[in-house]
Amino acid sequence: MKPVFFIFLLLILSNGLHAEPLTKDQHQQAQRLFIALGCRACHDLNESGSNLAKPLDRIGLKLNEAEILHRLQQPPGKMGPKDKFMPSYQTTSIEQLKLLSRFLANRK
Ligand code: HEC
Repeated sequence: MKPVFFIFLLLILSNGLHAEPLTKDQHQQAQRLFIALGCRACHDLNESGSNLAKPLDRIGLKLNEAEILHRLQQPPGKMGPKDKFMPSYQTTSIEQLKLLSRFLANRK
């Protein structure tokens, strides 16, 4: 592959995972949501939580904001057998889910 193509590809890929930064207030709000919604019962973040499911400290390297949001809105058991214990947050307000998704997309 020509180097210029490689750089182009890299730009596209990194842009796909770009996450808007949060204000200090939003950051604190998102941290509170992570606790209030019980994510720590299964996921570790900043060394606080459980290891029933994968830690989310670097989830932003794998999923972007839209993908995380999509994941949180899935009905339970829709993402394959390994995912069957991940609850659905379809009844949580979209504003809260978006904030939480952006917060997590910034974990890299
Ligand atoms: C009852 C346990 C449980 C709770 C509570 C839970 N999850 Fe999960 N979650 C899982 C499991 C199991 C998976 C799939 C396998 C894994 O990641 O280890 C998963 C997967 C995910 C993924 C995809 C991870 C990846 O690498 O593809 C994200 C993002 C996620 N959870 C975020 C959250 C957030 C945010 C909350 C709180 C709003 C939450 N989870 C609450 C169990 C849980």
